[in-house]
Amino acid sequence: MQMGSTVSRGAIRLGPFRLDHPFIIAPMAGITDSPFRRLMRRRKSALVVSELVSATGIQYAGKKTLDLLKYEEEERPVGLQIFGEDPDHLCKAAQYVERLGADFVDLNMGCPVPKVVKRGAGSAMCRDPLGLSKVLSAMVRSVRIPVTIKIRTGWDANSRNALEIVRVAADSGVTWVAIHGRTRAQGYSGLADWELIGEIKAKTALPIIGNGDVSTPELALEKVDRYGVDAVMVGRAALRNPFIFEQANELWSGRGYRLPDSGSYLSLLEEQRELLLGAYEPRYAMIHMRKFLAWYSSGFPGCHEFRSKVFTISDPEVVWDLARLFFEKCTSERDMKFLSQPFLMGGHG
Ligand SMILES: Cc1cc2nc3c(=O)[nH]c(=O)nc-3n(C[C@H](O)[C@H](O)[C@H](O)COP(=O)(O)O)c2cc1C
Repeated sequence: MQMGSTVSRGAIRLGPFRLDHPFIIAPMAGITDSPFRRLMRRRKSALVVSELVSATGIQYAGKKTLDLLKYEEEERPVGLQIFGEDPDHLCKAAQYVERLGADFVDLNMGCPVPKVVKRGAGSAMCRDPLGLSKVLSAMVRSVRIPVTIKIRTGWDANSRNALEIVRVAADSGVTWVAIHGRTRAQGYSGLADWELIGEIKAKTALPIIGNGDVSTPELALEKVDRYGVDAVMVGRAALRNPFIFEQANELWSGRGYRLPDSGSYLSLLEEQRELLLGAYEPRYAMIHMRKFLAWYSSGFPGCHEFRSKVFTISDPEVVWDLARLFFEKCTSERDMKFLSQPFLMGGHG
């Protein structure tokens, strides 16, 4: 089936990067590791960002922490995201990211998790614009690669100060700001406030990436048109529809897109399997893949039964065979309602 078409548009600029279109996979801890980032780049996410990595952890150079910062050439443009509250650690971590050769360093200022905000990191950084100004300026001075930030709209309904933070970021030399349209207090409840994102965009020259609740390629395009944002980040919806960036790119280029068929899913699964087995041992690769199989299958007939099998069978090869069989059979009858239903209501940004 061919889905809608629109006015043809071309490449965009985001900071120093020239991108074919403005649709980007959002960073997600435990999900956007290097294999999945490569998969999403191949499925046309315009750039990729790692999950959050502790700036203080980088100072201690633990293997687990440093492994999170590994990336492959095919991911470029690739940013590595750090978080922390210690300005010295943040600057040193940014320099480490630069030495690794990443294209930009992103500072997580949206994480709502108590363990993180209690220390003054993540979304707590937005509570002290003056202090933030010093930290951001120091980070920008300490590296040559772009420094970018990802924030929420504010701490709570009474302090939605994202515009002030964007101004501080612009004055400090930050290259762009990604805004998840919820306050820290909201967590993942309610809806992302795109009106506020649009108002902020209208008041700043700094590139703004809008984020939150974009569940279809049509909505991704609509966000650019309606709110004037420079780019759109899509997180959870890409887990249920890993073709969303290809589809949004087709719409951006003025073409319609075809819904994925069984062949699209089978090649996606094969690629992801190869990428995971290249990075992890087979048992871990399968444990990791189970989550994706559950997300990819949602809305297809028999998805509940498929999921319960996937999570109870322990032999990785049997699970892979089951997955192939499932997607071979049933790609034409997806219940699209599933795609806009809330899920995964918790995360680090
Ligand atoms: C499981 C999960 C993990 C996340 N981890 C991160 C993270 O490491 N860094 C970050 O900036 N945001 C993180 N986020 C937030 C997302 O990047 C995004 O802002 C949020 O999910 C809203 O976008 P969406 O509605 O398109 O999913 C995470 C979200 C989820 C669901």
